[in-house]
Amino acid sequence: MSAGASRSRRSVLAVPASNSRFIEKARGLDSDAVFLDLEDAVAPAEKAAARTNAAAAIDAGGWGRRVRTVRVNALDTPWTYRDVIAVVEGAGAELDCLVLPKVTTPDHVRWLDTLLTQIEAANGLQPGRIGIEAQIEDARGALRADEIGASSPRLESLVYGPADFMASVNMRTLVVGEQPPGYDTGDAYHYVLMRILLAARANGLQAIDGPYLQIRDVEAFRRSAGRTAALGFDGKWVLHPLQVEAANEVYTPSRSDYDHAERILEAYEHATDVQRRGAVMLDGEMLDEASRKMALVVAGKGRAAGL
Ligand code: GLV
Ligand code: MG
Repeated sequence: MSAGASRSRRSVLAVPASNSRFIEKARGLDSDAVFLDLEDAVAPAEKAAARTNAAAAIDAGGWGRRVRTVRVNALDTPWTYRDVIAVVEGAGAELDCLVLPKVTTPDHVRWLDTLLTQIEAANGLQPGRIGIEAQIEDARGALRADEIGASSPRLESLVYGPADFMASVNMRTLVVGEQPPGYDTGDAYHYVLMRILLAARANGLQAIDGPYLQIRDVEAFRRSAGRTAALGFDGKWVLHPLQVEAANEVYTPSRSDYDHAERILEAYEHATDVQRRGAVMLDGEMLDEASRKMALVVAGKGRAAGL
């Protein structure tokens, strides 16, 4: 796993780069990551101004410990190459990652990797430091998620894009993230979410859930986030201050699960190192090496969150 793929991304705040007031507000919110959007939250007539804003805002600093990213436009538009050049030449030393939307083939990621390498070399930036987050948000991307996940050492995460995905498969609903009416049992998103999660884990990447658009319904946001947190996702995009707080909580293990995980690690270490046994009982449960690995996941997330 690259160092970038282990940064905390429980809450990833989306901010339209065309809106300077929102950008200023974002500096005061407690999200783990922020992305300034040049893509779907920005009108075509504002694309050029948004680019300049995004580069200036990242370059100006003041983002604290947050992961600082910019989402460029997709490769089927005329804007992507200028987005990348403007943002990296303007703020390359401060920028952590670029988010590439609508990735349908590994070649999209390789294109961005090559362009980044050229811009870094031409501008004396540290080679390979800027990471890539790839959005998987249509049928083609979902079916090639594993190849996309293996396409560049710069990759740090695979990100699910529910709105574009639902549109791409003609799902019969208008509420992003909720089950489509009429599909009363099961989870309409299970397959694509697992595909992204497996592709991410197989390549040592983070798996990030996309936005929940009903921003006033925080309980519904928690439910939606809780489902992907339970599967193993690392975090979720957020659009509102209330969602930031909820995401930080939902993607952090509970205190009792964290304490339990640390006790398992302690008990298992004692069993293997001192008693030379590969299995041990703790509170009526038989633990073995696989239990240690499961506990390490929960303990790792808890430690990263400062529990
Ligand atoms: C995000 O980009 C989405 O399409 O949901
Ligand atoms: Mg999208």
